[in-house]
Amino acid sequence: MKNLLLFSILILSNMVLKAQTKKSDLDVNDKIDQLVSKLTLEEKAALCSGRDDWSTQPVERLNIPWIWVADGPHGLRRAPATNKAGYGDQLPATCFPTASALSATWNLDMVNKVGQAIGEECQAQNVNVILGPGVNIKRSVLGGRNFEFFSEDPILSGELGAAYINGVQSQGVGTSLKHYTANNVETMRMYNNSNMDNRTLHEIYLTPFEIAVKKAQPWTIMACYNRVQGVYGTQSPYLLTDMLKKEWGFKGIVISDWFAVVNRVEAMKAGMHIEMPRVSGVNDSLVVEAVKNGDLDIAVVDGLVKEILTIVFKAKALEKEGAELNAEKHHAYARQVESEAITLLKNKNQILPVTKEKYKRVAIIGEFASAPRYQGNGSSEVKPTRLDKALDIITKEYGKDIKISYAQGYKLSDDNDTSLIDEAKKAAADADIALVFAGLPLQYESEGIDRTHINMPVSHNKLISEIAKVQKNTVAVLTNGSAVTMPWINEVDGILETWLGGQAGAGAVADVLFGKINPSGKLAETFPVKLEDTPSFLNFPGEQGEVLYGERIFVGYRYYDEKKIEPLFPFGFGLSYTTFEYSDLKLSAKNTTDKEGVTAILTVKNTGDVKGKEVVQLYVTDNKSTLLRPKKELKKFAKIELEPGEEKEVTFKLEARDFSCYDGKREMWIAESGEFTISAAASSRDIRLSEVVALQSTQQVPLAFDEYTFFSEYWKNKETRVLLMELVPNWIKGFTGEGKSGYNADFPGFMVDHPMIKYPYITNGEISHAQVMELVEKCKSFTYNP
Ligand code: BGC
Repeated sequence: MKNLLLFSILILSNMVLKAQTKKSDLDVNDKIDQLVSKLTLEEKAALCSGRDDWSTQPVERLNIPWIWVADGPHGLRRAPATNKAGYGDQLPATCFPTASALSATWNLDMVNKVGQAIGEECQAQNVNVILGPGVNIKRSVLGGRNFEFFSEDPILSGELGAAYINGVQSQGVGTSLKHYTANNVETMRMYNNSNMDNRTLHEIYLTPFEIAVKKAQPWTIMACYNRVQGVYGTQSPYLLTDMLKKEWGFKGIVISDWFAVVNRVEAMKAGMHIEMPRVSGVNDSLVVEAVKNGDLDIAVVDGLVKEILTIVFKAKALEKEGAELNAEKHHAYARQVESEAITLLKNKNQILPVTKEKYKRVAIIGEFASAPRYQGNGSSEVKPTRLDKALDIITKEYGKDIKISYAQGYKLSDDNDTSLIDEAKKAAADADIALVFAGLPLQYESEGIDRTHINMPVSHNKLISEIAKVQKNTVAVLTNGSAVTMPWINEVDGILETWLGGQAGAGAVADVLFGKINPSGKLAETFPVKLEDTPSFLNFPGEQGEVLYGERIFVGYRYYDEKKIEPLFPFGFGLSYTTFEYSDLKLSAKNTTDKEGVTAILTVKNTGDVKGKEVVQLYVTDNKSTLLRPKKELKKFAKIELEPGEEKEVTFKLEARDFSCYDGKREMWIAESGEFTISAAASSRDIRLSEVVALQSTQQVPLAFDEYTFFSEYWKNKETRVLLMELVPNWIKGFTGEGKSGYNADFPGFMVDHPMIKYPYITNGEISHAQVMELVEKCKSFTYNP
């Protein structure tokens, strides 16, 4: 009874947690402290592991409840019970467009609302935490889970992730930001080492997580299967404690990906809270033993348990009794979202939209029109509440005015069977336009398996080419979760990329094809001409458990820019049925500091005759930098809607971080002084306007000289030059000409381009090894203004 009372107090205190003052936080913490003091070591160890597949461990004796976690991210995949796998028998839920599509909307508000809807569905099905979103970078086009991730760009990924999390969590349901981090390859995913330098880790693979944590505080983070810089993601103190907690201020708990834990004790020391799912009691016993023999500090266990209980009680307190799943409303919203994701890649001679004035007879070709592919394979698979088919919707909504015919075109059951092409050609020839639905069948993109090529099935490619031979108005309508090659690109006038668009995707495709909706999706990933052009081509999927991130920070468009490779379609690209004009880019200052930053304002006008939405992108270029930097990097974006003739101002505020790069040696972000070009663009290859700002850095950063820094570096720096003059004046004098002092010495490169540690013998003993080390020590406190 007493415990029940304590639990009720906890629930009540938590209900008002958000709005409360610090005092009530203290109350809740006190209660949790009391509970922790009553738990046995065995109970604490058990709390740090799941109860079964989908729930956390309760402690009935103390009325500590359990909470339900279930897969996502683009909808809820809830098993019938917490101890059932839930593949096939999961409860129906709305299958929203997958991340491949959500990212193409570039619409944060919309993704936030998708999160809200999913949060509502979690409440209706008693799920406390949904396992998503995935903000891993699409490093290679071959990545088997690319459909589940947002983008090749860290800022876009992080912002979308934060929008989704804020949406879900506004409903009193937690998220699990995954898979932390550098989880970019499925092959050997349980062991592979994502081997990269510090700068790459921070600029590309940590940034999306950092943004999502700072802007949205997910309740949980899922630690990855793979190793990062040699250490398992579940066991990395650097990732789980130094970065996540100390640098970014993460307040939630870390759970492992399913069966990701290798050494539970080391994982707990590193800052991992819960091992998922429950494996057996073996790992719990190891924890108990480690505490008893002094290997694991009980204070560490207590800290983790307290944080677990904080999330568990928060989740329980925010449960909504009697919440219902609004299937109709969410289906309609899923259609709307997908209609903003669909990306128009080619529209020669305005072949689209289809109108009854232009086309009396429409041939719909391809099995995807009647058997849609709308999501990917693996743990994210949602059982939809219903499923729309393009053929049905188009026939129903447009069949009265337009004659619709259909031909299967290929067999989804056999990629190489081209026997249906002739029949499809006949249907196409008898129509005024052919809409060919093609793409990647389910088995091509899956969790657990990477692709080995980026081609569509032979039967699909051949079908498109053959149809184009008999019908000059041919549009390829593509369904795929990541980039594909298009050998027939010059044979068709229209290409519509529809991604994996969720259960209501077919309706959205109809809306865009027939002009009810003006397409506004833009690519969140580069489409290459061929696999060999891609950044990680030589280093994917790695070998013998090592994945060398040899392209470093040059992922996606950063690589294509640097190598001057023409992609099939560039990052950020997407057409509209209208046109937009960019003008008047103005910066708030010509000179600024990293502290003040700069504001960029520009005007965008709809110059066509239909309403439309435009994704305005802002890229920053460091015109001259010490470290090699990409030609440009996306820093901001905005999606705006404009009526025909209407114009709007778009404002972006750039701050220190937007000018900075991560110095791997100094382990810090540095904004260097110098000129930066700020570009407003319609895609990464369509820069419309640019302005330059001169930035004066106010940072003082460590000089970071050591015994391996070259003599020439010590000589270039004013302060250390003085020290060299004191230490080796005679040797320096050997390089001064007539009338010159030692300070103006003129060294041949080969004499000074050596690490300082060699100078005891280069100077013929004028400086000793001990003096070199003293010099290094002295320099440790030196800083400079970059
Ligand atoms: C996947 C996660 C998923 C988990 C639970 C793992 O294999 O990597 O994304 O949330 O299983 O199904």
